Amino acid sequence: MKFFVDTADIDAIRELNDLGMVDGVTTNPSLILKSGRDILEATKEICDLVDGPVSAEVVAIDFDQMLKEGEHLASIADNVCVKVPMTWAGLRVCKLLSDAGTAVNVTLCFSANQALLAAKAGASYVSPFIGRLDDINVDGMDLIRDIREIYDNYDIQTEILAASIRSANHMKEAALIGADVATAPPKVIQDMIKHPLTQAGLDQFVKDAQQAGIRIV
Ligand code: G3P
Repeated sequence: MKFFVDTADIDAIRELNDLGMVDGVTTNPSLILKSGRDILEATKEICDLVDGPVSAEVVAIDFDQMLKEGEHLASIADNVCVKVPMTWAGLRVCKLLSDAGTAVNVTLCFSANQALLAAKAGASYVSPFIGRLDDINVDGMDLIRDIREIYDNYDIQTEILAASIRSANHMKEAALIGADVATAPPKVIQDMIKHPLTQAGLDQFVKDAQQAGIRIV
C-alpha cells in the first residue's frame, strides 16, 4: 500500500519524505487554510520536494471554471494530480483532463456507485472518506471493501485512495483490505510505530546494557 501524506505542511512532508514514507501528497482547501499558504506556491513547493503525485483541489463547482482551475493546477508541475469533487461537473472535468493525460483524483466519495462513476470517467484515483462515514456510524472500511471487490471484478485500474484516515488502525485495516493508497495526516503515520511492548523492551535493553557495561564503539 502506498502512503500519501494528507497535509500542506511542507516541514512535516519533508520529515516523512526523508524517511522514505511519502509516495505522494494530498491537499484540500481545508488543509491549505490550515497551512496559511497560497495554494499555488504550496503546491509547487510540495511538487518539487516529492517524486510522487501531489493532489491539488479545485475550488469552483461549475464546470467551466472548474476546468480552467484544473488546467491551471496541472500546469504547475508534472506530478500534480488534479482533485475534483464527486459531482457531474467534477466527473466531466475528470474525463477531459484524464483524456489529456493529467492524473485526476475524484474526492468526497461515499458510495461504491460513486467509485464506479469515477472509474468510468477515467480517474487515476478515487478517494473514499473513511473517517467521515465512521462519524455518522457507517463503517467506512465496508466502503473500501466494496470498492475493492467491484474494481477487482472488472479489473478497473483506478486506484483506491483511502482518505479521511484518522488512526493507525485505519491504516492497518485499509492495507488488509487492499486499498492501493492510504492518505493520512503526519501524526497518524507517526503513530504507526507505537507499541507499548516495543517501548518496554527497549527500556529493559537500555537498563541491561548499562548494567553489563556494553560499549560497541
Ligand atoms: O483526505 C481527506 C481528508 O483530508 C479528510 O479528512 O479527517 O477531515 O475527514 P477528515
